[in-house]
Amino acid sequence: MTAQSSSKDAIGDRLEAARKRTYELIEPLDDEQLNRVYSPILSPLAWDLGHIANFEELWLVQTVGEREPLNGDLGRFYDAIENPRKSRNELPILRDAELRAYLAEVRERALDVLGDVDLGPDSADPLLRDGFVYEMLIAHEHQHNETMLQLLQMVDGYELPDGLVARSRFVGQSATKSERTAEGGTMVAIEGGEHEIGAPGLERGFVYDNERPRRTVELAPFEIDRTPVSNGAYATYLAETGAEPPLYWGRDGEGGWVDVAMGRREPLDPAQPVIHVSWHEADAFARWAGKRLPSEQEWEAAARVAGPDDDNPLGPPGAGQAWEWTASDFLAYPGFEAYPYEEYSQVFFGDTYKVLRGGSWATHREDLRPSFRNWDLPERRQIFSGFRCARDPR
Ligand SMILES: [Fe+2]
Repeated sequence: MTAQSSSKDAIGDRLEAARKRTYELIEPLDDEQLNRVYSPILSPLAWDLGHIANFEELWLVQTVGEREPLNGDLGRFYDAIENPRKSRNELPILRDAELRAYLAEVRERALDVLGDVDLGPDSADPLLRDGFVYEMLIAHEHQHNETMLQLLQMVDGYELPDGLVARSRFVGQSATKSERTAEGGTMVAIEGGEHEIGAPGLERGFVYDNERPRRTVELAPFEIDRTPVSNGAYATYLAETGAEPPLYWGRDGEGGWVDVAMGRREPLDPAQPVIHVSWHEADAFARWAGKRLPSEQEWEAAARVAGPDDDNPLGPPGAGQAWEWTASDFLAYPGFEAYPYEEYSQVFFGDTYKVLRGGSWATHREDLRPSFRNWDLPERRQIFSGFRCARDPR
């Protein structure tokens, strides 16, 4: 077997693994639930599923394989920019058996094309070089799985697939007792000076355009929380300020709080990171604690501090339980070049969106890296968003 055919096998396996996860997520649901609109800010699951398949058809079958699409111009209904989330249920999208058949048929064609392409490091097409476009597709499906999990929090009685239960907010790594302080944790000092920010190269053959180019930034010394702000710290804050509770927090009847996602009433682990808070709420907590949100450069610099994992101020990059809001607007890095399409990041640059760093329990482990930039509107709370605080040295 040549190196290239074995790497093609590995890509095929990972495409299949991503699809297996997608199917596991919807396995407990019926067609009515797949088509239902649960929230104006989230697509019906049927749209996400059709979009996953259509994106695969567009890139792996039409672009790479130079083949005609299966359903004419159906793709325009799955364009995320053209079709805002609140209007997606009114589109003539594929549903039920037709939708499942489309997912399967596109995948068959994509694997067929994969057999014929040159994915070597010397491939003339940058989309194919080192499997870039395939890695992009795998990452895309993973990210839509997380979006689907946002919606699934609203489905009463939904049971997470086994592989996700262990990582979910109900079970997880707990901060040590000394870290459960009201202010949100012990802090670590990061030295000022030059820090490298951005993706050093293509990790697994792929990073998003917005993580590049890598550059050196000059940072003043700062301190940053060792762990994200916990449920316990947030409950203390609510008691003292009367602020709004996070999304999916309900009263337990005894003055405390329970997690009411998926229609349940589960105890909230006081040591787990708080999630489902908006940027505005995170910013208000930080001010109350006499701190501030870190800039995204500070967050990344702290995540990259070398040393054994135990010494890494933010834990190993794979420790993500919550996305973490930063103080930063989502802007292009100097020298940014859109690739392979402008709609991934470029159209979102500006002061409308805030950057989140890290990754949540619902993020695929393969996609966690210090340079990854997520973004959303500052009022949004349906994402698995928490935060940690920073401050200037005293
Ligand atoms: Fe997408």
